[in-house]
Amino acid sequence: MNVLELDTLAVGWPGHGPVLSGLGLSLMPGERVGLVGPNGAGKTTLFHTIAGVLPAQGGAVRLWGQAVGAGQFRPEIALVFQQAEDQLFCPTLREDVSFGARNLGLPDEQVQARVAQALEECGLSGLEDRPVHHLSGGEKRRACIAGALVMRPALILLDEPSAALDMRQRRRLIALLAQRAQAMLIASHDLELVLELCPRVILIDQGRICADGPAREVLGDAALMHAHGQEVPHSLTPHHGAGHVHVRASL
Ligand SMILES: Nc1ncnc2c1ncn2[C@@H]1O[C@H](COP(=O)(O)OP(=O)(O)O)[C@@H](O)[C@H]1O
Ligand SMILES: [Mg+2]
Repeated sequence: MNVLELDTLAVGWPGHGPVLSGLGLSLMPGERVGLVGPNGAGKTTLFHTIAGVLPAQGGAVRLWGQAVGAGQFRPEIALVFQQAEDQLFCPTLREDVSFGARNLGLPDEQVQARVAQALEECGLSGLEDRPVHHLSGGEKRRACIAGALVMRPALILLDEPSAALDMRQRRRLIALLAQRAQAMLIASHDLELVLELCPRVILIDQGRICADGPAREVLGDAALMHAHGQEVPHSLTPHHGAGHVHVRASL
């Protein structure tokens, strides 16, 4: 069964017309899908609607085949905000990452076990008592992901996860996400990250889905990409010269 289905979904802000409409897509468990499109195309708006923060303007969001409404508690869908500062709000890292697990009403030992595991998976063990505003940008991003993982979600929505990260932190983020089993929708202008993590890409622009297909086909289609203000990522453009290699930042 699909973890997520959008059925003729329309999304937008109260008092304004739809930003995107007629959206249809299905996501299988564990599937990672890149969401690309120009600034203002509606990536963040769509994520807020799927996560239930914003009511749909039409159509339906289905989780495991069941329609879900705005405001309905849905711990199976975790939203990782573009700005870590919008998400982290507790005095210490431990309290912040615990928050979601406590909200599930789990007994204290289970909360602690989940927090320890999420911090370990995100490379944050040992920083439990650190005030969140004393974490680096990369640590804040991973703290937000740890806060999502404690909920054991089936789907994680990541909004521009590599924004403002340096090369090493970006590489750590890619490694972290690549190891997770959850389905993910990853909104990003970092098309190389999308190519590495997502076998499938959805391009949105002008209020609709313009393409949905294999990442290399969608991102490698120069005419399509140019028509929507995008560029074919460097690694998909033809290369000449023997021994041409791309060196990655080390972790
Ligand atoms: N809080 C808001 N209230 C009203 N309109 C908004 C709000 N946030 C974003 N928008 C509008 O929604 C549209 C889509 O924005 P957004 O979802 O942020 O795009 P993206 O994430 O793809 O850059 C834009 O026209 C933007 O101005
Ligand atoms: Mg956005």
